[in-house]
Amino acid sequence: SRSGSRGDQGRPLRRRPEYETTCCKARKGTNVNILLIGSGGREHAIAWALQKSPNTDVLYVAPGNGGTAEIAENVDLDIADGEALLSFVHERNIGLVVIGPEAPLVDGVADLLRADGVPVFGPNADGAQLEGSKAYSKAFMEANDIPTAAYGRFDDDAAALAYVREQGAPIVIKADGLAAGKGVTVALTKEEANEAICECFDGRFGEAGSTVVLEEMMTGPECSMLAFTDGVTMIPMAPSQDHKRAYENDEGPNTGGMGVYSPVPIVTDEEHATMVDIMERAVAGLREEGIDYRGVLYGGFMLTPQGPKLLEFNARFGDPETQVVLPRLETDLVDVMVATAQRRLSEIELSWRPEWAVSVVLASEGYPGDYAKGFEITGIDEANALPGVHVYHAGTKVEDGKVYTNGGRVLNVTALGGTFEEARDRAYEACDLIDWDGKFMRRDIGARAMRGRSAWES
Ligand code: AMP
Ligand code: GLY
Repeated sequence: SRSGSRGDQGRPLRRRPEYETTCCKARKGTNVNILLIGSGGREHAIAWALQKSPNTDVLYVAPGNGGTAEIAENVDLDIADGEALLSFVHERNIGLVVIGPEAPLVDGVADLLRADGVPVFGPNADGAQLEGSKAYSKAFMEANDIPTAAYGRFDDDAAALAYVREQGAPIVIKADGLAAGKGVTVALTKEEANEAICECFDGRFGEAGSTVVLEEMMTGPECSMLAFTDGVTMIPMAPSQDHKRAYENDEGPNTGGMGVYSPVPIVTDEEHATMVDIMERAVAGLREEGIDYRGVLYGGFMLTPQGPKLLEFNARFGDPETQVVLPRLETDLVDVMVATAQRRLSEIELSWRPEWAVSVVLASEGYPGDYAKGFEITGIDEANALPGVHVYHAGTKVEDGKVYTNGGRVLNVTALGGTFEEARDRAYEACDLIDWDGKFMRRDIGARAMRGRSAWES
């Protein structure tokens, strides 16, 4: 192991004294080199927020995408190769590693770096189990009195099918492990439920589907509360609302998210307080289990008639939630992340811009199922030139200065505005300037919420 020669004494530059003693004031001359891991729209938005900080010296993104290439240095680094990752971090004098996606967290990339004395934003593998295993997560919620849907956990199809016979439909089927937001089926009939169960055990999600969670279906609007936590202090970010279904009017299959807005005025003060209380209980529960959790804890809530209940935890920033939350964050993100990594989050206070933010996902026709890629995208610069608009790249590839589609969710078009309508209209104006063969989006981001809570009563 290389850790004997590392740590704070071996590399004094990695923990600058200023970071130990000062709070969120601008710190001239205390620049830090940062490595951000990931390649989605979320990472482009994180890169953008880190890059605008005077505290950032050099920002590397591994592997990054066409958007991060414009504002940071993309690096071709195999993060599964621990030796290569550690060498890079030490050679480039990286003072903060930010891990964007869930897979490297579940795989223990944070553990490896942290054990080597590197300040990391993102939980270790034990904390990431809150997202990596639905069964673990449900047991954790139960143990910590966190309101959530009633459930059963099954390791074979016969028992799961018997539970459906007993409980009836509607019922929700969840693959236990990571499935890129596609492992959940809300089944309205027993037949649909049986089919989803068989698909899971037949290996549609690989190992991730060898255990299945079956849940009571809850109803109500959804709300995402992302929170910074260093394992002791928890600071909630501004709430946002994602749109999980592929098609308008919340129809079609679940996706990773098709569009999002913030703030979320349909959330009452009482509901907000309950969500904060649940997040606090979660952080306390992690601490009791001896889990050292530093990063983002994401609570996915449903605002049911019985109050907010937790749908799921994620161990990272939401995608596309980040694309509306970070543009509204006024506080320097480097300050927040370094404080989180060093367990000094109690020194931080967050402040938010009063503007609204709306982000629309431009996807490839066919997503979340099969889709073609490699189409040339036009109009991104024109869209970016509109006031208050940021186009974040998600699944793109740049070749010879041209941008091509390279994934299911291709671009996230975020706009800020003084009102919801202004932000939304700017976002869609920008979306309409962008084109490729097979561009697909929802036209109704935020529309249901603007009709008020009654839009969820049917
Ligand atoms: P999850 O990954 O567990 O958050 O599930 C993805 C999406 O499926 C959620 O955002 C909801 O839209 C939906 N969903 C999950 N669990 C339930 C449930 N118990 N009742 C109703 N909808 C659910
Ligand atoms: N937007 C949903 C997620 O990040 O999981």
